[in-house]
Amino acid sequence: MYTVRKVTEDLYYVGGDDRRLALFENIFPIPEGVSYNSYLLMDEKTVLIDTVDWAIAREYLTNVRHVLNGKDLDYLLINHMEPDHAASIDLVLKEYPNATLIASEKAILFMRQFGFDVDDRYIEVKEGDSMSFGKHTLAFVEAPMVHWPEVLMTYDTKDKVLFSADAFGSFIANNGRLFADEVDWDRDYLDEGRRYYTNIVGKYGTFVQKALEKAGGLDIKYICPLHGLVWRKDIGYILDKYVHWATYEPEEEGVLIAYASMYGNTEYAAQTLATKLCEAGITNISLRDVSSTDVSVLIAETFKYSNLVLASVTYNLNIYPKMNDFLNDMKALNVSNRAVSIMGNGTWAPQAAEKMEKFLDEEMRLMDVLPEGLDLVSSLNDMKEKEMDSIVEGIKDSMKKRREEKAKAKSQRAGAKK
Ligand code: FEO
Repeated sequence: MYTVRKVTEDLYYVGGDDRRLALFENIFPIPEGVSYNSYLLMDEKTVLIDTVDWAIAREYLTNVRHVLNGKDLDYLLINHMEPDHAASIDLVLKEYPNATLIASEKAILFMRQFGFDVDDRYIEVKEGDSMSFGKHTLAFVEAPMVHWPEVLMTYDTKDKVLFSADAFGSFIANNGRLFADEVDWDRDYLDEGRRYYTNIVGKYGTFVQKALEKAGGLDIKYICPLHGLVWRKDIGYILDKYVHWATYEPEEEGVLIAYASMYGNTEYAAQTLATKLCEAGITNISLRDVSSTDVSVLIAETFKYSNLVLASVTYNLNIYPKMNDFLNDMKALNVSNRAVSIMGNGTWAPQAAEKMEKFLDEEMRLMDVLPEGLDLVSSLNDMKEKEMDSIVEGIKDSMKKRREEKAKAKSQRAGAKK
């Protein structure tokens, strides 16, 4: 059986799923698997668009042979050279010795670095170039750092298909589905789509913004990413998500409370704050233990919510290691534009609150550390519990301020359009 599906009249999905890989990039847990997408354009000339990871190479080549149905492969177009998509280039070139590679100059360089024999069988393309294969013309759009520097996006001018490389992808195997409208994406895929984007490409928001500007100039009917499902409806929905993530604008008014606790005292304080927030009407809350939550989930939720509360016990006169990892990951991924409340704890030399505030002020950009915080000594008591009310007020005020700023910016934009 083949895992082939038709995207448009002349375009076939020939990729496949990987459910055996535990860690994507050997770092991100993918309990629901991932797909490696490749597409085959059957025009007067045949064009295979990107390849797949080694893990599914055999099934992939079976799919390609099935769709070609005895025809030769004329071109292999590579938009992205990362091995989860490019590992099978060698196999395709060996199986189809007449196929010519199409790729950016950097991608060709990377192919050589990976040891692929590409001599005399490639065409380098750049921004503004296009190639016709019969009915279909593919236009090439450079999209550096989405997610590597060699990346191209390719646009089929006939059927208005954007081959978007890593952009608009998601974790979760396709499981036979092809289109995002075949699932309840908002309910079942959004969290994993966000976790995929924010951890893999989140660092390069300014580059993604540039790519989105270029895409904004195209009439797009289909988005074909390299992971996850194809978009042919509600394209504005996924574009809006990407605008938020790429500009580091929170998607939602809400609070991620991330706590590091050794014996439950800091956890109890975090839970108490969550209760107080709910009592105050702020119920859009995620309460996460940094020790048992993968940092990729924490990062995704950092991109989702407007407010963070970081609550950490002191450890070796420093921030608790798992909280420290989370802070460093936030910095590495350029997280910014969040209001942060801090709670620290310690028994004989509390240091965590002070060090977290210093990190946010000195190492990160545009993180608004709210003045209302809490320094616990070992455990929450009545006096500290009352002090916690000021954190709730600080969070409420910061949300109100953000709403007012958004409304002001919106009215300024409306005024500029008149
Ligand atoms: Fe899915 Fe950047 O590779």
